[in-house]
Amino acid sequence: MPFPERFLEELMERSDIYDVVSGYVRLTKRGSNYFGLCPFHNEKTPSFSVNQDKQIYKCFGCGKGGSVVNFIMEVENLSYPDAIHFLANKAGMTVPEDDGDNRLPNLRKRLLSLNKDAARFYYSLLGENEGAVARTYLEKRKISHKTATRFGVGCVPNEWDRLTRAMKKLGYTDYELVEAGLAVKNNKGSVYDKFRDRLMFPVIDVRGEVLGFSGRTLSDAEPKYLNSPETPVFSKRRTLFGINLAKNTKRSSIILCEGNIDVVMLHQAGFDNAVASMGTSLTVEQTRLLSRYTSEIDICYDNDPAGIKATDRAIEILKNSEFKVKVIRLPDKIEDGKKIKIDADDYIKQFGADAFEKLISGSDDRVEYALVNLQGKFDISSDEGRVEYLKAAGELIATLGSPVEREVYGGRVAAAVGISAEAMKLEIDRTRKRKIGQQRKKMEKEALSPVSALQPKARALRYDNVRSAAAEEGVIRLLIRDPEIIEACDIDTDEFSSPILGKIYSIIRAKLNEGKAPQISLFSEYLTEDEMSLLVRIDEKPESVSGSREALKDYISVIRTEKLKDSTDLLALAEKYKKTKGMEDKNVE
Ligand code: CTP
Ligand code: MN
Repeated sequence: MPFPERFLEELMERSDIYDVVSGYVRLTKRGSNYFGLCPFHNEKTPSFSVNQDKQIYKCFGCGKGGSVVNFIMEVENLSYPDAIHFLANKAGMTVPEDDGDNRLPNLRKRLLSLNKDAARFYYSLLGENEGAVARTYLEKRKISHKTATRFGVGCVPNEWDRLTRAMKKLGYTDYELVEAGLAVKNNKGSVYDKFRDRLMFPVIDVRGEVLGFSGRTLSDAEPKYLNSPETPVFSKRRTLFGINLAKNTKRSSIILCEGNIDVVMLHQAGFDNAVASMGTSLTVEQTRLLSRYTSEIDICYDNDPAGIKATDRAIEILKNSEFKVKVIRLPDKIEDGKKIKIDADDYIKQFGADAFEKLISGSDDRVEYALVNLQGKFDISSDEGRVEYLKAAGELIATLGSPVEREVYGGRVAAAVGISAEAMKLEIDRTRKRKIGQQRKKMEKEALSPVSALQPKARALRYDNVRSAAAEEGVIRLLIRDPEIIEACDIDTDEFSSPILGKIYSIIRAKLNEGKAPQISLFSEYLTEDEMSLLVRIDEKPESVSGSREALKDYISVIRTEKLKDSTDLLALAEKYKKTKGMEDKNVE
């Protein structure tokens, strides 16, 4: 066990789940629980609950649940030992040192310090003679010295070990350089720089820590951009380039673009609210990060097919969120009859900051954007094309929750193709009715299928024998509610059909053996996130403690009967196999 138990118990006492969670989620009391908007998925109505008695949280929307430690692991993207350190820090406690698993938090600290030193080093090289190529490049891209400094831009010449050598002098090891993603090991076991001949952008988080780098080639080497790999401190899907600066903006929205240079250029032009998702489309984790600073997102991806696809994906992710979303559409540029890509950087350079400001204020909201996109797919000069467009637009508008919105957009589409607003409204209402009917049917079907309702959300934990698993869950629930019945509980762990339920059962047994209550908030140490969510779900199902001994007996007998059934099934299977095998053998003869 990496942390002494006494220490963990005190830490849990000092880390009340309500106190910790309310640092991230606005909670309001409803009944005996607290509710708020789930920080783990986008939603408009609160389905995230905190139970202070049990010291657990649970989201009825996405199914995530666990203890205060799981919450910190998830929300801060930390491993279990790191989350413990994080909470200890908050509670003003020192973590008793031991060398085994405590290496990780130390490693994180080392990597952050290494990254910072590397960023300083790259930055200093930009001022040296060997930074001349990079300086010329910055000039060419019209990035001023001041802007480059604000972003901590640096460079590295085309050498194998420029950074590695310098960092080793500062006392960093090969191991740390590789773990930080700054160096690569060759097949002889020695290391060389990962980033060479590149303009270097440090990726900095809201606390000012350098998490990783994005390097743009200074030649025409591929790839054009090289990012840090996933490391203990860098995760691309949880980071946004420029958030360290954009979080301080006075503007109401955040502009989301594709590339590092777009962000740098926008900031230089006075749009200090720009961030980039570094070549990937927006992730839920990134929206969570953004929600701390803004409720308005202006998407400004490139206008090439990849950018349009990324825009659609971002809209999909933001659809159920509280964000007000706008899409800034960069105009098409045609050269020699071919459409060429424009990004925010190109636009600012060609048309200037004022034009971009106008583009933002006049930019489409997401529905308008989707409708215009849709219209492009039909030939609305023909009657047939118009009818098809109207149907498709009707489908889209019918999904809008607000009647006012449906009316406004319906009216707009009607006007665009020249039909009456009433006819459009009729079409939309009909589609909506049909959709609601379908939805209801689907939900009824799901409700009627108890098997799927019983299964854990995480695929890897799925039960092979649902009847037995239900009884196993019952045993677990009873032992948590009424620990005294353990003396009547004579079932063995290996009689459980589900490995995860068996594991939970054995943890409960071990706790009870030590004379401790099996409080589920203390299980995070032994269970993964998914397993914790499952345990919270099991615990919340109703179970009466009156007559618990009887109930326990019943559960155990179900488990044993099911096991017997399973093994007779197996026997039968083996019999059958033997027969067919025998027949085959005969055929061979
Ligand atoms: N990107 C990446 N990996 C690549 C290509 C791109 O991570 N192989 C990310 C980078 O963060 C980059 C962004 O995607 O800033 C946009 O890429 P791209 O559209 O290719 O950038 P350009 O605008 O073409 O690049 P530049 O303006 O620097 O020439
Ligand atoms: Mn560009």
